[in-house]
Formats: sequence, C-alpha cells, structure tokens
Amino acid sequence: MHDKKVKSIILAAGKGTRMKSALPKVLHSIFDKPLLGYVIDALDNSGYISENFVIVGHEAQKVEDFVKSNYSNAKCILQSPQLGTGDAVSKALPYLTDFDGYVVVVCGDTPLIQADTIKSFVDFHDINDADLTVMSAVFDNPKNYGRIVRDKNNKFIAIVEEKDATPNQKAIKEVNAGIYCINWKTVSEAFNNLKNNNAQGEYYLTDIVKWAVENNLKVQSYILDNNEEIFGINSKSQLAQATKILNKKSLDRLMDAGVQITDTDTTFISPETTIEADTVILPNVYITGKNQIGKNCKIGPFSHIRGGAVIGNNVRIGNFVEIKKSVIKDNSNVSHLSYIGDAELGSHVNIGAGTITANYNPISKVKSSTIIKDGANTGSNSVLVAPVTVNEMASVGAGSVITKDVEAYSLAVTRAPLKQITNWVKMKIEQLSGGIK
Ligand code: UD1
Ligand code: CA
Repeated sequence: MHDKKVKSIILAAGKGTRMKSALPKVLHSIFDKPLLGYVIDALDNSGYISENFVIVGHEAQKVEDFVKSNYSNAKCILQSPQLGTGDAVSKALPYLTDFDGYVVVVCGDTPLIQADTIKSFVDFHDINDADLTVMSAVFDNPKNYGRIVRDKNNKFIAIVEEKDATPNQKAIKEVNAGIYCINWKTVSEAFNNLKNNNAQGEYYLTDIVKWAVENNLKVQSYILDNNEEIFGINSKSQLAQATKILNKKSLDRLMDAGVQITDTDTTFISPETTIEADTVILPNVYITGKNQIGKNCKIGPFSHIRGGAVIGNNVRIGNFVEIKKSVIKDNSNVSHLSYIGDAELGSHVNIGAGTITANYNPISKVKSSTIIKDGANTGSNSVLVAPVTVNEMASVGAGSVITKDVEAYSLAVTRAPLKQITNWVKMKIEQLSGGIK
C-alpha cells in the first residue's frame, strides 16, 4: 500500500454516436445498472480513491442526476463542447491545482474493470516510481482501440489511434485500455500542450504519452492478462457481448459456491445477487439488480426477479413469476403466474397460481406494501390491493379481490355465490337448431 493520495477522473461526456441512441452511452445498463455505475463502483471498491471527478457533457443533466443520486464522493464537471478525451481531462485541471498525488483516468464505457485490477495497477505505478502508467492488453482483433507503439528497444513511446495508424501500426495487437495512472505533478502540464491535428480533429488523451516521453519522464505500460476486463462498449452489439461476459462470471461464481444452474445459456443473474448452496436455477431465469437468495430454493423455469428481493431457504419461485423488492421467508411457495411486488411474505406461505399484489396506484403514483404473514395462503387468481395485510394462517379464496386486512385464521372470499341454471346449454343448442320441433 502506497502513501500517495489518489483521485480519479472518469470520462463520461461523449455522446456515444456508435450506440445510435437518444440515451448517453454511459447510461446504457447491464442488469439495470448503467455502465458508468460499474466503473465508479470498481474505483470505489479499490479503496484507493479519495475523490472521483466525472466529466459530463452530452445529456449532462441526466448523467449528473445518476451520479448525484448514487455516489456522494463523486463530483461532476461539465465539458462542453466535447473536443476529445484529452480536452475532457483538462476540464478537471482547475480542481487539481497543487494536487500532489496520482490521478487515475478511466473511460466511463469500460464496465468490466475490476476493483482489484485498479489496485494492482496503482501499486505497479507506485512501486516503479513512474510518471505515467497506461493499462494495456493484447487482443487478437484489436480493431477500434488505440495501439501501444514501442521503439526498437521495446520501449513504450506512444499510443496511436486506429484512425491515425499506419498499416504496420494497425497490425499491433497490444492496445490501450483507456485507463491511466498519472503522477499529477509531473504530467498534468501535458494537458496544456495537446494538439488536435489528427484524423478526428480531437484533443487526444493518448497524446500525453508522447509528451511524457519527449520530456524524459518515466512512462510504462501495465499489461493485463485478462483482456476481457478492459472491453470498451461503443455499440449495442458490444453491450450485448459485455452482458454475456459479466453474466458468465456471475454464473461461474454462483456455481463455485454450490448453486446448481441447469442451463447457463438461458440463465441471467446479476453480479450483485447472492445465492446459497443447493439452490437450483432452472432454464430461462432472469435475475437483475441486488438480491439475496437462500439455500435449497428452486427457481424457474421462466422466473423474473427484478431486484431488492430477500428470499430465505427452501423457497419455490416457479414459472412466469415476477418478484420485485420483496421479502419471502423460509419454506414459502410462489409457484405459478404471480406478481409479488413491495411485499413481505412470512414463512410457510403458499401463493396460489395467478395471485397479484396490486402495489401501484397509477393516479397517485404511490407504491404500497402487501404483508402476508406466516402460514397464510392465497387461492388462485386473487388480487391483493395494497396496502393490505393477510394475517397468520389466513386463507384467501380463489378469485378474490382483497381490499381490507384479513384476520388471522379466517377465510376471506369476495366471489359472487355460485349459481346454476339447469340445462342452460341444452336450451341454447335447441334454440340454435331451430327450436323445439
Ligand atoms: C479511447 C482511446 C483509445 C482506447 C479506447 C479504450 C482516445 C483518443 N482513445 O478510444 O486509445 O483504446 O478508448 O476503450 O482517448 N469522452 C469524453 N469527452 C470527449 C470524448 C470522449 O468525455 O470529448 C468520453 C466518452 O464518453 C467515453 C470515453 O471518453 O466514455 C472514451 O471515448 P470514446 O469515444 O469511446 O473513445 P474510443 O474511440 O473508444
Ligand atoms: Ca470507447
């Protein structure tokens, strides 16, 4: 552990033209968390960063709203117009005058970067007493990335963007991850010397390498073995690829912990979901957001858990069931065709097929909770209009609409009494066939 102060600059001002979207690129989500969220979390979880600066520009307000409502130690700085990644970093200069420490610069579109990697990266920079360290990785297909250029002594001397590269440079497979550790005192001057005489007419952050080499500073690259981590998202297809990578990691982690996943191709589980051993996940399950799931549960096929779920042990979540922000205690079943939202289910609760918690009032826009206590059950096709409580061991009759609390041990039923018209069908058939002859 080093004793230098470390701050970060996260580049998030670009439009993301290649996404072909009205939404800024960094607000596109994987498992309901924006790309930018993954990057800030990785920096925060490294435990090294004392303050994050997020450079915003395109749809700045939207990006700033996301940052402000989720991260108290991040400050947004406006870059307008967006003149390139180097110009973006230079917007933070006034906030870092006299700063004597390291600045880690990260692109907001590389969501797979891990906290431990950032830690080792900063340590590597520190141990080698470097002025500038650039994270790199080797790709068989390096298309779109900046290339790491070395001289004949293998010394790292520059980064060349794909659009500016010569055919020989294009053949280089070591690429720039877009993650930098900068000794601020010696290198920040580079940002006053950037030029935009390149193929894109932009001020490139990557040109600080050349500047540092020319100024005899110590420049090095930190080659990452796992190139997946630096995968940058520029298009919808890359967003889908990143989702797959993140999902595979998440499923591997769960299987290592003893969770049984029947079909890894059709199961999606967010990295922020914990599941205990011997729970079985059947095909076509989608679990997003933050959730806790206990042991010996059976989930799926075709279940959707949307975040904020706290599920105990021996719980059954069956097909076409959606769960949102709900607690479900041990030995309860929600086996078929139900929506459980903003609810609290005790233990040994049985939810009949097609039970719906009506939690949302679209006029007042208020969401209310449903409480179903230990041992209670609901019949098929019941609607529980929240706020409402079904007390211990109570029973809700099939097809009921429950608008008042149900007492413990009682049956609540709102169906009209059954009426039978004897031979009604026979009469209809006879009418249709021309009356009784
Ligand atoms: C950049 C690097 C490239 C590297 C790649 C890694 C430069 C010039 N190129 O290319 O060497 O291999 O990342 O993924 O840096 N942004 C701003 N303001 C701007 C322009 C961009 O904040 O004026 C932000 C974007 O929102 C994005 C990040 O900077 O989060 C990177 O920009 P992008 O256009 O994706 O750069 P690449 O072409 O991928
Ligand atoms: Ca990019």
